[in-house]
Amino acid sequence: RILILDFGSQYTQLIARRVREIGVYSEIMPFDVGDEAIRDFAASGIICSGGPESVALEESPRIPPLVFDLGVPVLGICYGMQAMAAHFGGAVSPSDEKEFGYAEVALAEPGRLFEGIEDRVEDGQGLLEVWMSHGDKVTGLPEGFVTTCTTTSAPIAGMANEDQRLYGLQFHPEVTHTSQGRRILERFVLDISGCDATWTTEAIIDDQIARVREQVGKDTVLLGLSGGVDSSVVAALLHQAIGDQLLCIFVDTGLLRYQEGDEVMAIFAEHLGVRVERVDARDQFMNALAGVSDPEEKRKIIGREFIKVFDAAAKGHQEAGWLAQGTIYPDVIESAGAKTGKAKVIKSHHNVGGLPEDMNLKLVEPLRELFKDEVRKIGIELGLPKSLVMRHPFPGPGLGVRILGEVKPEYVEPLQKADHIFISELRSAGLYDKVSQAFAVFLPVKSVGVVGDARRYEYVIALRAVETIDFMTARWAYLDHDFLDHVSRRIINECDGVSRVVYDISGKPPATIEWE
Ligand code: XMP
Repeated sequence: RILILDFGSQYTQLIARRVREIGVYSEIMPFDVGDEAIRDFAASGIICSGGPESVALEESPRIPPLVFDLGVPVLGICYGMQAMAAHFGGAVSPSDEKEFGYAEVALAEPGRLFEGIEDRVEDGQGLLEVWMSHGDKVTGLPEGFVTTCTTTSAPIAGMANEDQRLYGLQFHPEVTHTSQGRRILERFVLDISGCDATWTTEAIIDDQIARVREQVGKDTVLLGLSGGVDSSVVAALLHQAIGDQLLCIFVDTGLLRYQEGDEVMAIFAEHLGVRVERVDARDQFMNALAGVSDPEEKRKIIGREFIKVFDAAAKGHQEAGWLAQGTIYPDVIESAGAKTGKAKVIKSHHNVGGLPEDMNLKLVEPLRELFKDEVRKIGIELGLPKSLVMRHPFPGPGLGVRILGEVKPEYVEPLQKADHIFISELRSAGLYDKVSQAFAVFLPVKSVGVVGDARRYEYVIALRAVETIDFMTARWAYLDHDFLDHVSRRIINECDGVSRVVYDISGKPPATIEWE
């Protein structure tokens, strides 16, 4: 397995994902996690990530000396390379000029890391297209190191000490813009560090099944099934592991997507044979939300009601000893980062499905070590429909934050229908997977329309579709005008009470993805 020490790069998670795609388990730890944790992890190789700081500054982060005492191969990327150079007495020069974007590096002395890896050869010299993003650079090699590759602006773009198996790269092999990046990482992980590529979807499933069985024994496990990707995959996995010891509770809040409740029952209860208890709490949610229009207040109410309903359902199952949750690895990394204060800006959402604290159940979180793409692969492997597994994210408070202002029962149906029309049209046009998230929003303002000879004074539906990688920033999707025209006509024709459709052309920032 590979340990990734995080120096704060925006690409750190990507490094971990790439290593896992190669088939090797990897974990991220903050660079200052402490010697004990590093030693206990027993890595076959260590990767030091990039980071925003400058090695030239006294107080900037350093690579813990233990990393080099363990005798395992070490790869420093960007800041990681500079910190490695500094550690061994090389020179790093600060620079005001930032290099950012594509660069071509020439392989000077490829060594084990690059042997046979190149995009093209010119005058007998191997060349690589890479993605650079740095300010500082290594300007003097530490003793025992050679320059492996160069660019015009960074004469030492890569360095190596083959005897000690230490490697530095000024560019980023983890981003797809570096076309041979995967092969370079593979070389480090498989050949140089000697890892076996055994981290496969089937192996992960087998491993988790064995662990869950051992963990919960003969006990009953409760799971709040929401229709989202993570809880669905947990349900499928636990069902495989412990069969009828799993009991899912599906709370129908009345704020779900079009026919979502029926779909969840069809897939899990009927098709997979999972035990699911469907709780109809629509009236309870509507009553609790009556008269409330502040978005944060609505989120709190929805979260609180959810816990009440879930708690009441759980009380009917005193035999349960465990609560399963769909926590995934990025959640774990984020909350660890939030605790140490190292993570940048973390959004805190009041999530529906939060654990009632006094429930007295032990937690089982089988996806805790997995990235979203791994979770999806497992879902497919376990037989969940692709349309469910590849679904866009849906906020915990559901339509509660997509009906602006006060939530009234009569707004729910037109919104669900409009959203369903938009989503199914995106699917049939082959656009659904091209956008990261798409949905309809209900605006409780009336505008004038004319249908036939009659004037109508009715509500507005806004459509939103965005493209994003991390949901922290996003751009609105350039959907084809004919496509939008078709969707708009269908919504006005088929959704009662709607006489106007608008398309949201705001980026994030400054707008958020959701309207509330
Ligand atoms: P914003 O609107 O903040 O959304 O740009 C970013 C992502 O988070 C989702 N979102 C939520 N998810 N509970 C959730 O579980 C919430 O309260 C919530 N609010 C926003 C949003 O759908 C988008 O994917």
